[in-house]
Amino acid sequence: MALLEGKVAVVTGAGRGIGQATAVTFAREGALVLASDIDEEPLQETKKLIEEAGGKVLCVRADVRSREDCENMMKKAAEELGSGAIDILANIAGITRDRVIHKMSDEDWDFVIDVNLRGTFNCIRAVAPYMRDVAKKEVAEGKEYHRKIINTASTAALRGNPGQINYTAAKGGIIGITRTVAREWGPFYINCNCVAPGLTATRLTQPKKKGDEYGIPEELLKRTIESIPFKRAGTPQELANVYLFLASDLSNYVTGQVINVSGGLVI
Ligand SMILES: NC(=O)c1ccc[n+]([C@@H]2O[C@H](COP(=O)([O-])OP(=O)(O)OC[C@H]3O[C@@H](n4cnc5c(N)ncnc54)[C@H](O)[C@@H]3O)[C@@H](O)[C@H]2O)c1
Repeated sequence: MALLEGKVAVVTGAGRGIGQATAVTFAREGALVLASDIDEEPLQETKKLIEEAGGKVLCVRADVRSREDCENMMKKAAEELGSGAIDILANIAGITRDRVIHKMSDEDWDFVIDVNLRGTFNCIRAVAPYMRDVAKKEVAEGKEYHRKIINTASTAALRGNPGQINYTAAKGGIIGITRTVAREWGPFYINCNCVAPGLTATRLTQPKKKGDEYGIPEELLKRTIESIPFKRAGTPQELANVYLFLASDLSNYVTGQVINVSGGLVI
């Protein structure tokens, strides 16, 4: 049997990179996936990949900064893919806006905190009626059924990273959220863990030329790769494999943890 057969899963940031690979991997393993992203166009590619693999997907444009968007996406997942419940939430939407400390504007600080940290909180609060409340009733009936929340931090939050004071603050906050949810919702058999990707080959880490919004300057990219024991970046699929483990019953006794997936960048 597939690892996620019949489970209802919500994946944010599913239009690109790690989120897209995770949405496709979940669907291949039998999950009914709500794939969401702020950008509608790349979501169409995710839809195509899932349908080609014979999976079921519902695509919803949602900005995780918006409470209303998050509530709407959870309602859709619970009502259109499931019968009122959600089994898995993978919070993967994220963004960078790098500046050294003395040049960091209020706007760049707020933007990165809002997408990464508030976005994760918004999704967890919005899933509560379909995950926490459903699970609470099941526990009262004597049932032990595990549901999964997987958040996304970064090794940058563990090591510190010049130029990323906003991002490391947000990702550090996500680790705090993970531990609190694990304790608060653990009695309802809801596991909450966090993946901390190292350098992964996506839009966020492409070689950055002057004027590019995303990416890493080529020299810094080279130096980072040099410090990874495997001497290469990870692939989105290598990350998705760990989200799959944390979403499946294989990880039922794992909660409140931060799992580095970094090829040994952090040891
Ligand atoms: N790539 C890396 O090396 C790396 C390292 C550490 C952590 N991460 C984290 O992994 C996650 C995925 O990043 P990625 O590397 O795949 O980047 P990516 O840019 O390829 O994908 C991120 C997706 O999130 C979406 N998104 C951005 N803002 C959003 C919003 N407000 N609402 C909804 N969706 C939004 C984007 O449209 C994009 O499709 C992020 O949380 C990122 O911080 C990545």
